Amino acid sequence: MSLTKRIIAVAATGAVALSLAACSGTGAPAGDGVEAIADCNVGITMPTRALERWINDGEQLKTLLEKAGCTADLQYADNKTDQQISQIQNQIAGGANILVVAAIDGLLLGPALEEAKTQDATVIAYDRLIVGTENVDYYATFDNYEVGTLQGEYIVDQLGLADGAGPFNLEPFAGSPDDNNAKFFFSGAWDVLLPYVENGQLVVPSGRSPESNADWASIGIQGWASTLSQAEMDNRLSSFYSGSEKVDVVLSPNDSLAIGILASLKSAGYAPGEDYPIISGQDADKANIKAILKDEQSMSVWKDTRTLGEQVYNMVLQIAADEEVTVNDTETYDNGKKIVPSFLLDPEVVVKEDIQVKLIDSGFIKASDVGL
Ligand code: BGC
Repeated sequence: MSLTKRIIAVAATGAVALSLAACSGTGAPAGDGVEAIADCNVGITMPTRALERWINDGEQLKTLLEKAGCTADLQYADNKTDQQISQIQNQIAGGANILVVAAIDGLLLGPALEEAKTQDATVIAYDRLIVGTENVDYYATFDNYEVGTLQGEYIVDQLGLADGAGPFNLEPFAGSPDDNNAKFFFSGAWDVLLPYVENGQLVVPSGRSPESNADWASIGIQGWASTLSQAEMDNRLSSFYSGSEKVDVVLSPNDSLAIGILASLKSAGYAPGEDYPIISGQDADKANIKAILKDEQSMSVWKDTRTLGEQVYNMVLQIAADEEVTVNDTETYDNGKKIVPSFLLDPEVVVKEDIQVKLIDSGFIKASDVGL
């Protein structure tokens, strides 16, 4: 969504919030003179403070909700599922009637959400789908398959694969096996790249090349940890790149993995310049934008988390007002028990030349955050 559209959307939802606040039966101020909205006690659980994007996601959603007159409890779980489950249980015990959950392990939340349902809470899966349970009502995310498609297409364009160029050495990576998004990211990219692996324009010297999308988890990096992607890349470089053999391209599904991969390449002697590999990413984290400015990373797929927060905020207000919840996809996200009605947002590619306009001028990051 363009910035202008985004501002209009916020203004519109602000209007809903105001009218809701005006109609609310409680009349009690929610703080700062805002009137509280009845039935808007929101429990938000996010995976970790270790990744910049989740900090932004959580804080912005909490702020929007509180400004509208909802109560919002925001918790981070240090990437530990047990911790996330007890946070959700505490929120339910504390009377939350709407849960917004960015799951750590999308498969393990079933029992906690069953408890939520005994209290008639409405559950929104935030960014990551919750799977294997009936008890998830809505899903809001960026189009995860499209994220991978954008990474794959970028690689095809940069290498000139459609014109027959190659062979090039590729090292592919995938995200955390417990994150349902990771399979979509990989499938989007692999549907674009696999034909070039099969015809020999792309070669994977390490052999870490899934034969199909279904094998994606065989190259997954647990917990999206930079330390683990670095160790894996170190291993591939020392075992399979002897002599003059060089990596030409690394498919990294996100920025945290890219950080580890960049560190590994650097310690193996790679430096930006003509022979430096293409490296993809996702999230437009500040550390990675700095790396893009230094030509150490080629691109990131930017998901403007402000628009995701606004979308979820709209959903919450619609649920609180007992209105129909706006979704735009009722086919893609089958969680094994049901197709979860979803709202999908558009991700977009950011390269060095886009940083000023897309990220800084729009206020997503400050110039000073990335040394500009
Ligand atoms: C998110 C990505 C993020 C990754 C690691 C995924 O579920 O969609 O934006 O990079 O988790 O936190």
